[in-house]
Amino acid sequence: MTELRFPEGFVWGAATAAYQIEGAAREDGRGESIWDTFSRTPGRVFQGHTGDVACDHYHRYAEDVALMAELGLRAYRFSVAWPRIRPDGTGPVDPRGLDFYDRLVDALLARGIDPFVTLYHWDLPQALEDRGGWTARETAEHFADHALAVHQRLGDRVRTWTTLNEPWCSAYLGYGNGVHAPGRRDAGAAFRAVHHLLLGHGLAARALRAAGAEAVGITLNLADVRPADGGSAADAAAVRLVDGLQNRIFLGPLTGAGYPDDVLAHLSRIVEPDFLRDGDEKLIAAPLDLLGINYYSPTYVAGRAGGAGNSAYPGTAGSVEFLPPVGPLTDTGWMIEPAGLTRLLERVAADHPGLPLFITENGGAFPDRDIDGTGRVTDTDRIAYLDGHLRAAHDALSRGVDLRGYLVWSLLDNFEWAEGYRKRFGIVHVDYLTQRRTPKESARWYQEVISRNGL
Ligand code: FCB
Repeated sequence: MTELRFPEGFVWGAATAAYQIEGAAREDGRGESIWDTFSRTPGRVFQGHTGDVACDHYHRYAEDVALMAELGLRAYRFSVAWPRIRPDGTGPVDPRGLDFYDRLVDALLARGIDPFVTLYHWDLPQALEDRGGWTARETAEHFADHALAVHQRLGDRVRTWTTLNEPWCSAYLGYGNGVHAPGRRDAGAAFRAVHHLLLGHGLAARALRAAGAEAVGITLNLADVRPADGGSAADAAAVRLVDGLQNRIFLGPLTGAGYPDDVLAHLSRIVEPDFLRDGDEKLIAAPLDLLGINYYSPTYVAGRAGGAGNSAYPGTAGSVEFLPPVGPLTDTGWMIEPAGLTRLLERVAADHPGLPLFITENGGAFPDRDIDGTGRVTDTDRIAYLDGHLRAAHDALSRGVDLRGYLVWSLLDNFEWAEGYRKRFGIVHVDYLTQRRTPKESARWYQEVISRNGL
């Protein structure tokens, strides 16, 4: 195969999230988050796994940063746990929480690794959930305060800020179908949450910029939504509905176009939109310096009367059928289709010209195979997955998409939300009994890619 080179300065990195790796759940004043509550509720997470210890990154961050340096990472995307900064969500800042991220940022910079900070990766302080969580408008305002507190401490060293990670998941999985914390099952609440998450983004983004932040953005899990067999008008309508619920409901307001009419009409059939206030769309449309896209898998739908729909997409039952994924699949059962990434990047670039894009997550869960008992972890299927998606990203680049970087999910095996520790996404293996880290073959492969700036 011919060699593929990436543009000079292309950002190669890896991503993690606080609750998934930090552990130290009760240390240094950290408050409870909705994921603490959820994971301790019987039946919510695989075999009752919790993030109490996770990868113990809170104590082992120096070792982890050394590993990142060894792999040659240029950037590291991590999230800040809101309950470490303000244990009850709104009260005084606990400096010990900020101290941890301060040390982490210094360790990264000392190794020449650029910190990409995510201000919210799903661990809402439980105290705020008790007051309505993201269904309450005040949560958006508190989030802007959280963002400012973090910026005040780290803003002299951190250049790239993203507000939210995947608000689609927070809203629809957290409040709609209950698969994620806080586990509520109420479609109306899911739409309220969408709006308040977006509002929180807008308020935080403005506050960050006013405080001098260099680059501010958001990360979305946009979907490449495809019709079942490309044909019927019903299929096209299904694509449009699902695209509206997953992509346009976020992209519209974020980029200044407001909520699309068809999306508003759909949500108004489910919930009285009394939470939308005059001026909100303007607040949400804070200027974006970058858009982070997380891509794993495409979504295929068909328009069918009586279709089962999907509880993660409110109002799709009765008209939409989500097609079961067809192989090859990852260990989470997600369909592997790198071309979906190219299509998605091209579409976003075409619809929103001038917006720099980053792939802020991409990767796959695969069962590890220890071939020789020496601890060597062979993960050829992960290498194939990453190789395919990097080629797809390169295709988008060569068609003119302004793609600035790629952050693999994930640096470490970690707590995969409702799946607990049974799904391994890391390029570095974690032995949860000893906390020993072992770079998998994919990590060595990625190290090569980075050093050659290409494939
Ligand atoms: C994304 C999440 C991330 C991780 C990957 C597999 O939706 O942002 O935390 O769980 O999926």
